[in-house]
Amino acid sequence: MSASGALLHVDHVTVSFHIGSFIAGGRLMAVNDVSFSLDADRPEIFAIAGESGSGKTTLARVLLHDLDPTQGKVLFEGRDLATIKSRRDAMEFMRKVQPVFQNPFETFSPLRRVEDYLFETAIQFGRAKNRRDAAPIVDEALRLVGLSLDEVRQRYPHELSGGQIQRVSVARALIPKPHLILADEPVSMVDASLRMAIVNLFKKLRDEQKVSVIYITHDLATAYYISDRIAIMLRGYVVESGPVEKVLDNPLHPYTQLLQESVPRPTASEREQWAKHIELGTMEVKEYGRIGCKYAGRCPHVMDVCKQTDPPDVEVEGRTVKCYLYLDDAR
Ligand SMILES: Nc1ncnc2c1ncn2[C@@H]1O[C@H](COP(=O)(O)OP(=O)(O)O)[C@@H](O)[C@H]1O
Ligand SMILES: [Mg+2]
Repeated sequence: MSASGALLHVDHVTVSFHIGSFIAGGRLMAVNDVSFSLDADRPEIFAIAGESGSGKTTLARVLLHDLDPTQGKVLFEGRDLATIKSRRDAMEFMRKVQPVFQNPFETFSPLRRVEDYLFETAIQFGRAKNRRDAAPIVDEALRLVGLSLDEVRQRYPHELSGGQIQRVSVARALIPKPHLILADEPVSMVDASLRMAIVNLFKKLRDEQKVSVIYITHDLATAYYISDRIAIMLRGYVVESGPVEKVLDNPLHPYTQLLQESVPRPTASEREQWAKHIELGTMEVKEYGRIGCKYAGRCPHVMDVCKQTDPPDVEVEGRTVKCYLYLDDAR
């Protein structure tokens, strides 16, 4: 697949932030040399998974053209996001790439009826001239997520359940008929019992609406069920990426192995255990500041070389893994 024929082409993207800490030399590479592509002809669900503080949201901001990369570039449908300057081009980009955020209650003001957002989106992106024309469009989008305009009419956000309101935010994202949905932890605030129903919507959208989805999550269980491919992020780096069955059924990177062991099945207690794994606190800046592999301090297989130089990206068994252990297996 050539870069220009791709839906999305992420080309060696790095984002460096200035921070006060001396441990990391005053600089934190929140996203570090990340590359991947989504095919324009084959819609897919691409998961980006990793603990909190791995750089997932920073990468999402770059993909949404909300933040410029320090190095590298992003092409969407062949166009370098850095060349989007005019309001018109920005609107056209926003129409095609729609976000779904973690907290639906931040997306929707408590003082406004949720339908107002939906009508507004339809009009703003030129799908309708007025509310009357917008009504069938809004209803259609709501039906795609298992709701209807009649069900949400006159309702304020607090009158809907967490699951319902997150469905409404997916419906809102669908109104402009996007080519890509970028969902950043869309179910982390939704009750565990409702998560699968919501992430399954992404599958349905991929299959029926031909929309590609970037699904950002720290929950490997849902990623496993809905994604086609997955990239595992650790402290700015993608440490392993490939087809989801390969990466999660048989993880090669020691970090993916740790993550995968912590979520064999999506039961409540295992989710809790998983949540514990992601609370790292001060370890975070220390790991970002580490020379060589960011996982070296926790890795059971650590070798001297891991602490000296960044590990290479090795192609092995149908995926890419950033780890010295597999250098001899490279093919
Ligand atoms: N604007 C910023 N300035 C400085 N540091 C930031 C900024 N945004 C994020 N970071 C840092 O970058 C790292 C990655 O954050 P983030 O992308 O939010 O990770 P995730 O979404 O995986 O939890 C964290 O250490 C975070 O504190
Ligand atoms: Mg985040």
